[in-house]
Amino acid sequence: MRPRRLELREPRSATEWDRLHAIRKTHIFDVYHPPDGPWPCEYDPAHPDDRDSANRPLLLFADDEVAGTLRLDLKPDGRAVIRLVALEPGFRGGGLGAAILELAEGLALDSGARMLCVNAQPGVVGFYARRGFTPGRWEGCTTCPRGVPMAKPLMGGLPIRPEVRPVPAGPHLQRAA
Ligand SMILES: CC(C)(COP(=O)(O)OP(=O)(O)OC[C@H]1O[C@@H](n2cnc3c(N)ncnc32)[C@H](O)[C@@H]1OP(=O)(O)O)[C@@H](O)C(=O)NCCC(=O)NCCS
Repeated sequence: MRPRRLELREPRSATEWDRLHAIRKTHIFDVYHPPDGPWPCEYDPAHPDDRDSANRPLLLFADDEVAGTLRLDLKPDGRAVIRLVALEPGFRGGGLGAAILELAEGLALDSGARMLCVNAQPGVVGFYARRGFTPGRWEGCTTCPRGVPMAKPLMGGLPIRPEVRPVPAGPHLQRAA
């Protein structure tokens, strides 16, 4: 059932921070970066990027229940980068993925951002594409061959966008299939 109330906001208690870290660890790092996989990476709940004042670690609440998380990193050149996006499994497939992106986009716009960027996992390229993202490299995007950098202009995009260059569709999109 579609929740009546959605809220995307920063964690306000140790319990809420624990939920944010648990969702990221379980549904992103354990899945995409397991120790025995090709891109091992242990989740660090004390990572300094979460304490950077330009970065906003956020929780999605659906009718006051924690449904998922993402981080919105605001860059001085007008880009906003969406990272570490994940919903709890029970909240997937019903439009909340689209909703969390929409809420993050609203926050990015309110902060004056003109470009929304993401490093998509190959299996979710289609999810971002449905929300208006297209594959293209951006400054600071992933160098991991598995990741697919994508971007979406906001308010007509950045006036000058030399860093956004089309990614050759072949290898990345084949991996996404
Ligand atoms: C990715 C994720 C946030 C999507 O959430 P969701 O609730 O399933 O998405 P929605 O139901 O809002 O789907 C929105 C649209 O994207 C489509 N979509 C969802 N997941 C998709 C996927 N993996 N590939 C292609 N399209 C997808 C839906 O069909 C829907 O299309 P519609 O607009 O035509 O109805 C969720 O599956 C998740 O948390 N996954 C695990 C963590 C993860 O992989 N994070 C991505 C890191 S880059």
